[in-house]
Amino acid sequence: MTATINILGLSGSLRRQSAHTAILRTVAERLPGHVRLTLHGLDSIPPYNEDDDGAHAPQAVIALRAAVAAADGVLIGSPEYNHGMSGVLKNALDWLSRPHGKSALLGCPVLSFTASPAFTGGVRAHQQLNETLRAIQAVHVVYPQIVIGNVTSKIDQGQLRDESARAFLLDGVGALITQIANAPMRGRSRCS
Ligand SMILES: Cc1cc2nc3c(=O)[nH]c(=O)nc-3n(C[C@H](O)[C@H](O)[C@H](O)COP(=O)(O)O)c2cc1C
Repeated sequence: MTATINILGLSGSLRRQSAHTAILRTVAERLPGHVRLTLHGLDSIPPYNEDDDGAHAPQAVIALRAAVAAADGVLIGSPEYNHGMSGVLKNALDWLSRPHGKSALLGCPVLSFTASPAFTGGVRAHQQLNETLRAIQAVHVVYPQIVIGNVTSKIDQGQLRDESARAFLLDGVGALITQIANAPMRGRSRCS
């Protein structure tokens, strides 16, 4: 029997009709039977403040760190806001990057994507996101950049309907799953 692989999904958009959250849900519904993707909302993560970090970190941050630590890999979707990743996501990654040298994301396989109504698909935000993940020393999944342009026309009823975008993304998720399967277990998961 194949052990269950747990992937954590993080959306950089808090919007109810978010394309990124819809894309993450689309992936969750199309995974092999032994793979589970669970979304973790970033709504209640406060702005990063080093004074509040450490043993008495905010409850929402403790929960987010625990969710990453319990996962075998992470799938991140970020909107492009003014040529960068969303502040919501950057803020969450800043919390997740600490304690320095002991981040749950260190050594954790991560795949990321961006999407945008523009034909550029949020490629500038994607580049910036990858740079931040490098700083945190997450394990970058080797796959061509997943940027989904003209996303508004590709989402319908909360699902990514565009076949070629969906196939490209799901191939990337396949690469994430392979990377996870080849990664060593650390405690009870690959990201703990
Ligand atoms: C503050 C703000 C800045 C934005 N800047 C950009 C941008 O630089 N490039 C771009 O392609 N789209 C930009 N957009 C459009 C977003 O890509 C679009 O709203 C997208 O659908 C957000 O993702 P979501 O559907 O998951 O919420 C911006 C939107 C907002 C609200």
